[in-house]
Amino acid sequence: MSFPETFVWGAAAASYQIEGAVDMDGKGVSTWDVFCQRPGVIWHGHTGGVACDHYHRYEEDVALMAEMGLRGYRLSVSWPRVMPEGTGRINDRGLDFYERLVDRLLASGIEPWITLFHWDFPQALYERGGWLNRDVADWFADYAAVLVSRLSDRVRHWMTLNEPQVFIGMGHRDGTHAPGIRLTPRELLRAAHHTLLAHGQAVRAIRAAARQPCAVGCAPVGQVTIPDGESPAEVAEARRLTFEMREPTLWTNTWWMDPIFFGRYPEDGLAAFGRDVPEVRDEDLRTIQQPLDFFGMNSYMGYLASSRLRHKAADDGWPPGHPRTACNWPVTPAILYWGPRFFHERYGLPIVITENGVSCRDWVSLDGAVHDPMRIDFIARHLRCLHRAVSEQIPVWGYFYWSIMDNFEWAEGYKERFGLVHVDSRTLERRLKDSGHWYRQVIATHGRVALE
Ligand code: FCB
Repeated sequence: MSFPETFVWGAAAASYQIEGAVDMDGKGVSTWDVFCQRPGVIWHGHTGGVACDHYHRYEEDVALMAEMGLRGYRLSVSWPRVMPEGTGRINDRGLDFYERLVDRLLASGIEPWITLFHWDFPQALYERGGWLNRDVADWFADYAAVLVSRLSDRVRHWMTLNEPQVFIGMGHRDGTHAPGIRLTPRELLRAAHHTLLAHGQAVRAIRAAARQPCAVGCAPVGQVTIPDGESPAEVAEARRLTFEMREPTLWTNTWWMDPIFFGRYPEDGLAAFGRDVPEVRDEDLRTIQQPLDFFGMNSYMGYLASSRLRHKAADDGWPPGHPRTACNWPVTPAILYWGPRFFHERYGLPIVITENGVSCRDWVSLDGAVHDPMRIDFIARHLRCLHRAVSEQIPVWGYFYWSIMDNFEWAEGYKERFGLVHVDSRTLERRLKDSGHWYRQVIATHGRVALE
């Protein structure tokens, strides 16, 4: 039992969470740089100012990836590092960094998968209205064109946006992520619509600028409802719950994905939002519905169908004693079977697990190693479910573990450790955890080590 030879074994990270060097070599300010200065918003006042200093240590980091035998590395580019004001002037030194990184990855046999936007939004554009300004779609497409013109002779996999549900929801509704504001429901939906337009225009820009055939996707949160059992009725119920929108919330799949794949907002969502639905101009939905090559799915936890019907806000419905990670997320491996199955059935594209992972309270033991058996167990359980999807002929291109290394976990600061590589936050020393060594075996055996 194993995964196909072509399966992409990967790991992921994002610019603001690992790079540091936030004011070096001409980088512009991002909303996360500003947000981190606000008292009380980040655990213990941490910031991404230094993060893992990956900007200076990328060679060492790529060497660790190569040691694990990674086939793919999902990275994101910091928009203000490339365009300090977000639009107009290009910062060549910023682009040079990504070029060096890409070259180093390719020389190590690792395919770069690039996300254009993983939340570090240019502050200058935020001051011009940010996602509330419809021009954001043009700004984003221009930035996409700059990046793709420079890197697409070497890079063949692109993703537009990481988790719009989170940067709009937590950044603009809850105020717990940058830019830390609380919009009205009506404004939120306008910002979300512009986000979708930005996605569509960026896909067009990527295809127009690409110097070789490339695969384009996005990486939304894939929210999966797991059936209670496997009777046709139970499966149908879980599918319905995965794609329904009874509540007026952006924490859904379909409000984001139906416009992208079907060129329309879901009827139940339109009904739920009522008068808050944004103005949609004639061409908008055609712009948003650009052909994509894969469905990227970030997924960490799911709901159980029956408990979802019962669950109240602030309670995810899992019973007492259900396994939980260090950040209290329920452990629900079945998402990696049902997610690919439901999303492939509905949207028809090959699936890539663009993020999945676990935070544990890891530390360096007396013997100098980092023992993280729970992470190994977590990944193995998830890979088993993913393998079931693969064996049922659901096309799954790859799996990107989040994260390659411990990093700045947004409002949680450095409290949460998701890495295969342990990073000492003070010395920045890197050390492969047991799970990193184990992942090397998984990759070398096309997954057998995790399945047997
Ligand atoms: C996802 C984010 C990623 C990381 C993981 C733990 O929501 O995309 O940056 O924070 O969660």
